[in-house]
Amino acid sequence: MNGFVLELDRAQTADLEDFRRAVLAGLSSRPRAIPAKFLYDARGSALFDKICELPEYYLTRVETEILRTHAGEIAELAGANSALIEFGSGSSVKSRLLLDAMDPAVYAPIDISREHLDRSMALLQRDYPSLAIEAICADYMALDDLPKLPFSSRRLGFFPGSSIGNLEPDEALAFFRKARHLLGGEGALILGVDLKKDPERLHAAYNDSAGVTAAFTLNLLRRMNRELQATFELDAFAHEAFYNSADGRIEIYFRSLRPQSVTVASRNFTFAEGERVHTEYSYKYDIPQLEAMSRQASFRLRRIWTDPDRQFAVAYLIPA
Ligand SMILES: C[S@@+](CC[C@H](N)C(=O)[O-])C[C@H]1O[C@@H](n2cnc3c(N)ncnc32)[C@H](O)[C@@H]1O
Repeated sequence: MNGFVLELDRAQTADLEDFRRAVLAGLSSRPRAIPAKFLYDARGSALFDKICELPEYYLTRVETEILRTHAGEIAELAGANSALIEFGSGSSVKSRLLLDAMDPAVYAPIDISREHLDRSMALLQRDYPSLAIEAICADYMALDDLPKLPFSSRRLGFFPGSSIGNLEPDEALAFFRKARHLLGGEGALILGVDLKKDPERLHAAYNDSAGVTAAFTLNLLRRMNRELQATFELDAFAHEAFYNSADGRIEIYFRSLRPQSVTVASRNFTFAEGERVHTEYSYKYDIPQLEAMSRQASFRLRRIWTDPDRQFAVAYLIPA
């Protein structure tokens, strides 16, 4: 069915069985939590694109501006004929800035949201007819399990969108180490990170007045209803997001508005009023933290660009 997406072993994609297992385990554990990657079904991906356009969600605008300003410099550092490998490519909008500046030998987006990936690649191929695209539907946390990537050019990784912030510190370090291995001794990683800032600004970015972020969180309930025959009543739960300054992260949950019981994949779960299920973190970094993590994964910060208000940073990491 997919014109662009490389077919992989089913175990490498977030298929229905993975989803069922993760949800049942997550609702049975205390505190309750469901991994953030499951927020991205086709509707979740479309809602994320809407989030990127919200006035409160400064992240996309600021990162795009940094990339636009420095794309030429990035291309110079990367050199000609690289393979551009993007982790969590979504709609591949920012990627176009790098594609225009670098003209890589091949573009390999990796994303877990299959339908969205396929649609995005059809649009990209329409706009870049001569670009070689090798799209891969996979979990970027399982980089060891990727099939041998079908190209031999110098590998340039791209991990934008503050996606690194969705990972807990030990997961982020594990991702860095695997990316370092995948990209090889000649490779580099371009990373977009959201920086620590005024908590009010952060709070607004994850609690937009149009309610799009809330719809994105609650879409997980719809997905469970559709794919796992769950019985969540959408108006009996609410989105909750706040900045935990001690841990330097936004925390996102769905919260039960009343005592209730819900069936999921034939199992029954009760929720007390106010009980929460964790869905997402967004860790905020400062530059020394980023440097320390890079060092631990045998990367070195070659260059870092920020906006004038130091809200967001784009880093160019090379093997140490
Ligand atoms: C925060 S969005 C960023 C999208 C885009 N890179 C940008 O900067 O606007 C995260 C993207 O990563 C994908 N994603 C999330 N978790 C993933 C995982 N574990 N493996 C692969 N893709 C993942 C989602 O489907 C989504 O497209």
